[in-house]
Amino acid sequence: MAVRKKSKRKAEFGDFQTPIELARNVCSVLLQHDIEPVSILEPTCGKGNFIVAALELFPSVRNAVGIDINSEHVRVARSSLEKSAPVAGSTQIVSKDFFAVDWHDVLGSLPDPLLVIGNPPWVTNAELGRIGSCNLPDKSNFQNRRGIDAITGKSNFDISEWMLNKAIEWIGGREATLAMLCKTAVARKVLHHAWKNGQLLKKSEIYHIEASRYFDAAVDACLLVVTASASDGNFDCQVYGGLKAASPNVTIGYRQGRLVANVTRFEHCRHLEGKDRYKWRSGIKHDCAKVMEFRKEIDGYRNGCGELVDLEEEYLYPMFKSSDIANGCDQQPTRWMLVPQRIVGENTHQIRRSAPKTWQYLQMHAELLDRRASSVYRNRPRFSVFGVGDYSFAYWKVAISGFYKKLDFKVVGSYGEKAVVLDDTCYFVACKTREEAFFIAELLNSDIAKDFFSAFVFWDEKRPITVRLLKRLDILVLARELDVEETLRGYLDQYPQKYDQPLLFSESSSSS
Ligand SMILES: C[S@@+](CC[C@H](N)C(=O)[O-])C[C@H]1O[C@@H](n2cnc3c(N)ncnc32)[C@H](O)[C@@H]1O
Repeated sequence: MAVRKKSKRKAEFGDFQTPIELARNVCSVLLQHDIEPVSILEPTCGKGNFIVAALELFPSVRNAVGIDINSEHVRVARSSLEKSAPVAGSTQIVSKDFFAVDWHDVLGSLPDPLLVIGNPPWVTNAELGRIGSCNLPDKSNFQNRRGIDAITGKSNFDISEWMLNKAIEWIGGREATLAMLCKTAVARKVLHHAWKNGQLLKKSEIYHIEASRYFDAAVDACLLVVTASASDGNFDCQVYGGLKAASPNVTIGYRQGRLVANVTRFEHCRHLEGKDRYKWRSGIKHDCAKVMEFRKEIDGYRNGCGELVDLEEEYLYPMFKSSDIANGCDQQPTRWMLVPQRIVGENTHQIRRSAPKTWQYLQMHAELLDRRASSVYRNRPRFSVFGVGDYSFAYWKVAISGFYKKLDFKVVGSYGEKAVVLDDTCYFVACKTREEAFFIAELLNSDIAKDFFSAFVFWDEKRPITVRLLKRLDILVLARELDVEETLRGYLDQYPQKYDQPLLFSESSSSS
């Protein structure tokens, strides 16, 4: 019981104490940047390893402030500091809630150069909601989302993201540096937020760290170092493979209002950005694989509940998932999907007459289908799916998986008399013929197209490939560059709305 309480508390307060070795390594990186702080602030100091390491490595420090909500951690931090090198000034370690501290007062008492250092809690508001905690900012406006939305889980954010945004505001206009450990995705969001809001940053750097080694956590984590500027801003951030890496692997940045994953590639390929001539689509969303997906057996179709069922062929389609697309689509489909509608919102009642066994099957599993939480099924006919339209049933498609960590576009052909449908982990464009599909796939798989896409892709994200990314490429400009513009125009000419979002395939779904 005590163990469970302790781990709940650890989750609630994102309590992963930084080992002293890592804290020292972080300070060594900062030393190489010639940082000589007079003040240090650790806003969630825990057991105080960052303060101890900073006092060891920066003899310039005269004021140190550490704050943590956990009074036991504060006691440990104080006792560690008593044993370590004395500060020629003041040291204050206090137990307070970050969200209730008067930061204006604290920051006013700390002369420049200031170093804000630490490792804010690794926990999301969704996780806090799940364990019934309110370790959250109060009634705040968070990135234009009302705080209450964030608190009730309508939008998900990391508590560290909120704290880091605040900390970057604190250093604004001061001779100050922020150096904090966090998830790499959080570091990028925080930089994006600062750049978007016109905060002047002199220098930004991300150093990857091994979270599994230091925190036993399976996340992509980093040290984010940001130095404020009083006069002009810089929109680049160098990304290093590790704390000891001599040079950066890549530079990410802020360009034309969005985050760019590789600034050099972006500059090289930005002329390819434009209209999406072919419309990118998501595969079909049904949120109930147990009922809607089957394996074909000699005697019928076996669903995810293990039931062998006899259904009419009419609403059943061979299907590919992300893994099939990633592993190559030359193999035969092994799964079938029940697709009760041809367009979003279509009345499903007709199935009763046209395919009575399918109707009965849906009725039998109605409870599971009715329980689907996504709002896309609300106020829709019973058994609805989403992301369905004529394009879903195109015999030729060029597809990519949203989850896999490679840019590899595959041609998906029909199977027997039926179109192969895709699930909602895949994206695709619909084509009329095999030739067209292979031609489009070749264009999208060209080195220059891959360079273009990879300028925007952060491979550590859960779904690195998105429709937003895919639709950035103007395939006509690409074809011109590859000297095949006429061929592409020939294909585009088949579509009613020439060169601007071809509409052969129904527009009735807006899932993408
Ligand atoms: C990831 S740990 C890091 C601790 C310390 N910064 C370090 O690097 O070792 C996060 C710390 O945040 C503290 N914390 C969590 N919520 C807090 C809050 N609302 N106010 C102040 N501290 C908080 C936890 O008690 C914990 O010590």
